[in-house]
Amino acid sequence: MANATGIVSPGRNLAPLGIIRSGLSWNTRRLPLRCFAAVGGGVEDHVLGDAAPKPRLPSYRVVGLGSKLVGCGSALPKLTISNDDLAKFVETSDEWISVRTGIRNRRVLTGDETLSGLAVEAAKGALQMAQIDENDVDLVIMCTSTPDDLFGCGGRIQRDLGCKNAWAFDITAACSGFVVGLITATRFIKGGGLQNVLVIGADALSRYVDWTDRGTCILFGDAAGAVLVQACSSDEDGLLGFDVHSDGHGQKHLNAIAKDDETDSNNNGAPLFPPRKSSFSCIQMNGKEVFRFAVRCVPQTIEMALVDAGLTSSSIDWLLLHQANQRIIDAVATRLQIPSDKVISNLANYGNTSAASIPLALDEAVRSGNVKTGNIVATAGFGAGLTWGSAIMKWG
Ligand code: ACO
Repeated sequence: MANATGIVSPGRNLAPLGIIRSGLSWNTRRLPLRCFAAVGGGVEDHVLGDAAPKPRLPSYRVVGLGSKLVGCGSALPKLTISNDDLAKFVETSDEWISVRTGIRNRRVLTGDETLSGLAVEAAKGALQMAQIDENDVDLVIMCTSTPDDLFGCGGRIQRDLGCKNAWAFDITAACSGFVVGLITATRFIKGGGLQNVLVIGADALSRYVDWTDRGTCILFGDAAGAVLVQACSSDEDGLLGFDVHSDGHGQKHLNAIAKDDETDSNNNGAPLFPPRKSSFSCIQMNGKEVFRFAVRCVPQTIEMALVDAGLTSSSIDWLLLHQANQRIIDAVATRLQIPSDKVISNLANYGNTSAASIPLALDEAVRSGNVKTGNIVATAGFGAGLTWGSAIMKWG
């Protein structure tokens, strides 16, 4: 049943939940959707108490036919490291780094700063712009490869934001994480009846950089960005098309692998076996292979998302790629015949901030007045996994 705004109600039956599309096949499994608050009284009150947890969603729930981006925010660590600063401890120069990558500065978490703290600040900015109360958020999706907690930090961010009616989880898809989170949000809205979904991209790759390796330490920085995705009628739909891929054959070109820590003799009290304690290696990257992969696959994925949206590249107002290397951005823009004045780039200031780079650049472009309501933005993420994907979105 549809009402005047084009919003339909599934009644008690939950709608098909297409969580993610891989290649061209859709997941149309029917999954029950239940979420509840664990803020304030603590999780025991809600899960382990006498009464069964109350579902957040009423049995009669509207389902949006569309989803739109209505707010964005971002946050950065205080400390700036310039190319000249790096040249003090690795053999490099401002000229080499800026010519090969376009990067001049990056921000790095220090002192009391945490990734979750940056994520909360970015999310608050998105809520404020969208004029959405934290109690009206249904889901928080934290896209990161570098959480403060191995088990994920979405729940902590939900708590710190005071989103007591939301549930939360983390997504790990490296530099494609934000695009994957955006697509996941829109599937939960269009198929799952959620109204307001916060998608946060945040990473602190500085934690996993080998600061003696000039091939990688020049590239990365820390940041967070967020958008608020909201249910709407089909004629307001702002997620017009998308496309996602992964290929584990390329994992060897970019990774930070878990490794057993041989120096740690503490057995954690295990009586019968020597436990294997793990940590992660620093980022290992074959820059040339990653570069080739990006300039080949990113134009293709954007072209596929444009087909999905029923548009051509001439409809694009702004090209907003994951900010990895200016030469990659320029090559993709040339291939898609998008003029440089329609290309968003801020990596000179922040370097490659992984899952944060797209929402961070979007936030700056919206707040500076460049991206305006109704503008079509073609975005694409690519990186470790290897993963890559794109979305064609209409702002506002
Ligand atoms: N300063 C000075 N010289 C350097 C530096 C440096 N920082 N780094 C490498 N060099 C030297 C090399 O040793 C080499 O010297 P040689 O010719 O004497 O052997 C020379 O410069 C060329 O090195 P290349 O590695 O071939 O340089 P390239 O032009 O490929 O640029 C770069 C390297 C910038 C890393 C590039 O390959 C790149 O940007 N690749 C893509 C990386 C990327 O986008 N990653 C995104 C994934 S993010 C994620 O998912 C986590």
